[in-house]
Amino acid sequence: MRILITGGAGCLGSNLIERYIPAGHEVLVIDNFATGKREVLPPVAGLTVVEGSVADSGLVDRCFGDFQPTHVIHSAAAYKDPADWREDVATNVTGTINVVDAAKRHAVRRFVNFQTALCYGRPEQVPIPVDHPTRPFTSYGISKTAGEQYALMAGLPLVSLRLANITGPRLAIGPIPTFYKRLKAGQKCFCSDTVRDFLDMEDFFSIMDVVMRDDAPTGLFNVSTGEGRSIKDVFDAVCGYLGIVPAEPVPVVPPGADDVPAVVLDPSRTRQVLGWEAKIGFADTIARMLRWYDAHGVTDIHSHLAAPKAS
Ligand SMILES: NC(=O)c1ccc[n+]([C@@H]2O[C@H](COP(=O)([O-])OP(=O)(O)OC[C@H]3O[C@@H](n4cnc5c(N)ncnc54)[C@H](O)[C@@H]3O)[C@@H](O)[C@H]2O)c1
Repeated sequence: MRILITGGAGCLGSNLIERYIPAGHEVLVIDNFATGKREVLPPVAGLTVVEGSVADSGLVDRCFGDFQPTHVIHSAAAYKDPADWREDVATNVTGTINVVDAAKRHAVRRFVNFQTALCYGRPEQVPIPVDHPTRPFTSYGISKTAGEQYALMAGLPLVSLRLANITGPRLAIGPIPTFYKRLKAGQKCFCSDTVRDFLDMEDFFSIMDVVMRDDAPTGLFNVSTGEGRSIKDVFDAVCGYLGIVPAEPVPVVPPGADDVPAVVLDPSRTRQVLGWEAKIGFADTIARMLRWYDAHGVTDIHSHLAAPKAS
């Protein structure tokens, strides 16, 4: 495959690249390094990295023209500053339109888009079925939802994956790295009284293998274990792994006004249509993540791609 990956220096993109390059696929990345790191993509054969924004239609067109991708994975997203609505719209809406439009002109075989569970807003039911109405209420959620809607209109062989919280190499935000770091440093923690679903990177890879196939069904899919876990469950799992018995119970605080108490995606349609389901349970997912932190620290820099040997 010749795979164009937007946002390839980010967490999901770079993990995919560490699988695709050794497998012999060619990859071109467009990334502006807003949240991704150049160091995770060392210069290796088969990988081209272009610094720039998907909001720049000229740059996107040149990349498609030069690289002639057969497949597109649209992973670029802006979310860094919730108050920067213009950047969110430029990347998540205009950028998505630019990539979708170029993909159409170049008749790519597959277009895979990644979507946030925030598209569902405050859900009426949990687990959230994939046909639940979209009601985003944050700049990130609103702009990602608009981008997804444009992408769906394009008539491409397109899959949009609505993703649970994916854990794996270089995950450096959220409760798991936070508790790991603080507990190891002997610092106090608190848990927000919320429920989320966590999916191991290996399970994410297995759905990617399914949807990148030319004959796979297209459309919208929730990608999740379907199993909700409280942040306190995460805290307990990290304590258990580290062999720490907290001296006093960890405070569990009500969710903030802009937080959603429970976000758990229902993967049943994904199972029915794609025959995919998550294989790695919660305890293993957390333990695998913590073993990675033991080996590499809580860092978003470490790369598993072989750096070239000094000559
Ligand atoms: N990781 C998850 O658990 C998760 C869950 C739900 C949805 N998603 C979606 O998956 C995708 C990847 O998420 P991630 O966790 O890897 O995030 P990330 O921040 O690590 O990766 C996003 C990448 O996009 C790049 N980027 C931002 N604006 C850009 C622009 N204008 N042009 C080019 N590149 C740009 C960033 O520099 C970064 O490398 C996003 O679309 C996100 O909405 C991820």
